[in-house]
Amino acid sequence: MQIQLETTSPLTVEADALVTFAFEKDELIDGPLAELDRAAGGRLKELATSHELTGKSLEMVLLHYPAGLKAARLLIVGAGKPEKFDNTMLRRLASAAARHLKSRGAKRIAFLLREPRKDAGAAQLVAEGLLLAELELDKYKSEKKNQKAIEQASILGADPGAAEALERARIIAESQNWARDIANEPSNRLTPTILAGHAEKMARESGLQVDILNEERIEEMKMGGLLGVARGSAEPPRMIVLTYNPPQANPGAPVLGLVGKAVTFDTGGISIKPSKHMDAMKYDMCGGITMLATMRAIARTKPAIKVIAVVPATENMPGGRATKPGDILFSMSGKTIEVLNTDAEGRLILADGLFYARQLGATHLVDAATLTGAIVVALSTLNVGVFGRPDDYTRLFLDTARTAGERMWQMPVDDDYADMMKSQIADVQNISSGDGGGACTAAAFLREFTGDVPWIHLDIAGTAWLDDAKPWMAKGATGVAIRTLVDFTEKL
Ligand code: BES
Ligand code: MN
Ligand code: ZN
Repeated sequence: MQIQLETTSPLTVEADALVTFAFEKDELIDGPLAELDRAAGGRLKELATSHELTGKSLEMVLLHYPAGLKAARLLIVGAGKPEKFDNTMLRRLASAAARHLKSRGAKRIAFLLREPRKDAGAAQLVAEGLLLAELELDKYKSEKKNQKAIEQASILGADPGAAEALERARIIAESQNWARDIANEPSNRLTPTILAGHAEKMARESGLQVDILNEERIEEMKMGGLLGVARGSAEPPRMIVLTYNPPQANPGAPVLGLVGKAVTFDTGGISIKPSKHMDAMKYDMCGGITMLATMRAIARTKPAIKVIAVVPATENMPGGRATKPGDILFSMSGKTIEVLNTDAEGRLILADGLFYARQLGATHLVDAATLTGAIVVALSTLNVGVFGRPDDYTRLFLDTARTAGERMWQMPVDDDYADMMKSQIADVQNISSGDGGGACTAAAFLREFTGDVPWIHLDIAGTAWLDDAKPWMAKGATGVAIRTLVDFTEKL
């Protein structure tokens, strides 16, 4: 999709559809939509009177051949209550509009920004939304329903100087779609080796350094957590390392380590999962792919700090050689881990990933993982769980998420949770001996491998994919957290 800024009047713009948004209780007579209402012969006011146009969140009101407009259609998307309007809402309504219109054959659309959002950031959110709407899940359908695509979009009414914002939107949304596309692959088409191949290809195209550790090197490095999880599988593990090293980074500057869980399929191992919904565990590598996609984006946005992504990739399978409950693993850090449940595997591979990132020079860490069902209990599919320390580092991240338009919520990592992970016979155990708080005890386990380095852990188990399509996004992987991470590298 080609996207451009235009200064044409909404009344004369030529398009298959002109799109804008309305709030609940929007003033249609004097408000920002008054000009459109007059051009459309007062039809908007009429629809408001008959309660067909209420402005409620993501409502779609489509007028055909509105008199007084050059555009063939006028789409008014509900934006909800003005006091609740935020960046997430703006991006989603742009996506929802694009999905609504492409299924109706629109090829060329114009999106009219209006008060209170005409700034460059608004243009960026709209452009991101339009691009995210392009990806559909019909790759393995012999008959593609969704070959319809919007080819051209104009954004009208933006403040001057928004052009750079469009470029940034494209980088972020295309990286997010890159992530979604790979993460949607089933596990038979996305083994650790294949994932490493995707990462390598992307790194070369993006000008990133790449180092893929194969089984032998993983053994040499004594990455006992990763090896312990990979044992049950016929597919060998990989440790994927990408580095962005800008010439302008000064020696004293932070080095950010991005560590992501890439379990290409999680059966649970010997502590095997029930078969219902087990298919969803093909998404258990979304944290790793998030970090790879973030690297893809920052290779293009070019922040001034060095960033290293470390992505341990493996399957978690039962098998004759698989790790069994009660086994003890020697992690790369030297800490011993008693494996009481082989389904708590993400933390085992992240233990080595976090340690290795520090060994490669990371002074700051962020990890992302579809780590626990417990975070879904706590936050449902609506918010990413954010754990971290120290507090100012965590707060910087949460603020970044808010402006990036991603919903995230802080969770605790008090020392008491770490006490619940102490083993009687090894240094730590991989599940808690107490009750509840499964997302927090998992985070406390990870913390053991972060040293004194400022660290954030994102539990994206609830937010990494959609079981069913939303008006603003196709079913499948969402590419959550990428946008926040890209902004965060700049704030650091
Ligand atoms: N990949 C799962 C977590 C998960 C569950 C992600 C549901 C998305 C949806 C993880 O490896 C896992 O199995 N965690 C266990 C941990 C438990 C054994 C302590 C869980 O959450 O049940
Ligand atoms: Mn598991
Ligand atoms: Zn898992």
